[in-house]
Amino acid sequence: MKDKEIERIIKLEEKRQKGVVNLIASENYVSRDVLRALGSVFTNKYAEGYPGARYYGGNEIVDKIENLVKTRALKLFGLSSKNWNVNAQPYSGSPANLAVYLALVPLGQNPPAGRARIMGMSLSMGGHLTHGHKVSVTGKLWNWIHFGVNKKTELLDYGEIRKMARREKPKLIVAGFTAYSRVIDFKKLRKICDEVKAIFMVDMSHFAGLVAGGAYPSPFPYADIITTTTHKTLRGPRAAIIFSKKEFSQAVDKAVFPGLQGGPHVNQIAAIAVCLKEAMSPAFKKYAKQIVKNARALARELQKRGWRIISGGTDSHLFLVDTWARGLSGKTAQELLEAEKIIVNKNTIPFDNRSPFDPSGIRIGTAAVTTQGMKEKDMLKIAERIDKILSK
Ligand SMILES: Cc1ncc(COP(=O)(O)O)c(C=O)c1O
Repeated sequence: MKDKEIERIIKLEEKRQKGVVNLIASENYVSRDVLRALGSVFTNKYAEGYPGARYYGGNEIVDKIENLVKTRALKLFGLSSKNWNVNAQPYSGSPANLAVYLALVPLGQNPPAGRARIMGMSLSMGGHLTHGHKVSVTGKLWNWIHFGVNKKTELLDYGEIRKMARREKPKLIVAGFTAYSRVIDFKKLRKICDEVKAIFMVDMSHFAGLVAGGAYPSPFPYADIITTTTHKTLRGPRAAIIFSKKEFSQAVDKAVFPGLQGGPHVNQIAAIAVCLKEAMSPAFKKYAKQIVKNARALARELQKRGWRIISGGTDSHLFLVDTWARGLSGKTAQELLEAEKIIVNKNTIPFDNRSPFDPSGIRIGTAAVTTQGMKEKDMLKIAERIDKILSK
C-alpha cells in the first residue's frame, strides 16, 4: 500500500484482532475470499436499479453477481424463487429493517396520531435498536408496542405476547434479538400473527449462520419477511439481505431502492455471494453446530463457577451473564476483561435497574472464537480466565 499511515493502522488492527479472545456476539472473522470480493473493482461501479433494469450503463457483469447472490441465498435456506424474493442491496441491517417497515407499514395510516403500530422485543429485554427503540428513527416514525421476557423464567412469554397482540392489533410483528439466548418459537408467533392478521417479520441477523448450518430452528416456514445481516454468525461482509414472500417483494424492493438508498455497494454484494457459498459447505454445518456447543460449554462452566447466566443457559451462539449479582457492573466487567485481552460487551439484562451505559451484565458470544478453531476444552480455559479476572 502506498499510504503507509493507513497501512500501519490496518496492521495494528490485524495485530489487535489476533492478540485478543473475541467474545463479541455480533462479530466474526471472514475468509480471505470475502475480503478479496470486498476489495474488488466492484467498488468502482454504480448500479442503481435491479438486474436488467439499471439507471446506469455497464452493468452486465454486476447483473451476474446480483442474480447469483439471489440464487445462492435461496439455495442456502432451501427456498423456491416461486415463493420468495431476495434483496441483497441493503447497506446493512439497520437500513434493511427500516426498508421493511417503510414498505409494509405505511406512514400516515392507522390511528393513533396517524401512525401505524408495530410490535417487537424491546432493546432492554434483548431486541434491537431498530425494533422501535425511541432513539432510533424506527421508534420515532412508527408507534410500537414492546414485549419482553417473563421475569421469573427470563424467556419469551407467548401467552403475554398473544394478549398484547389481541389488544393492540399490530400491523406487523417482528421477532429477533441481539441479546436473547434461547430458541424463538416461530410457529407460535405465526399463529398469533394469523389471529390478529399481522405480517410476521423475523430479523435473524444474529442467528442466520446457525439456521444455515442447521444449528437453530429456521424461521422460513413461518415468516412473511426475513431480514438478516450477513456479518455475524453467517461470517460474511458487513451487509444485509431481505427475504420476502412474493406478495410483499415489490413493495420491499421499491422501499430499498429508490425509497431509501441510491447505488448498491456491489463489492458487498459480491462478498455476500462468497459467504453464502461458504455457508453451503459441510464444514460450515460443523462450524455452526460447534458455535452452539461452545456457547453452551462456556455458559455451563461459568455457571459452575458461580456466575448467574440469564435464563440459565443458551440455545444459540450467545448468552448474558448477570455480573451485578456478584457486585460487578457490566462496564467494570468489560474493562477488567479487556485489560486481559478478553473482549466482551456490557449489556443490560432483563428488568435491569441500572443504566445502559453501566448495566448489570455482559454479553458473551462464541462465533468468532469458533472460527479460530476453538472447541469445548478451550471454552473451559476461557471460563477459568474470566472467572479469575472478575473474581479479583
Ligand atoms: C438483530 C439485529 N438487527 C439489526 C442489526 C443492525 O445491523 P447493522 O449494525 O448492520 O446496521 C443488528 C446489529 O447489531 C442486530 O443485532
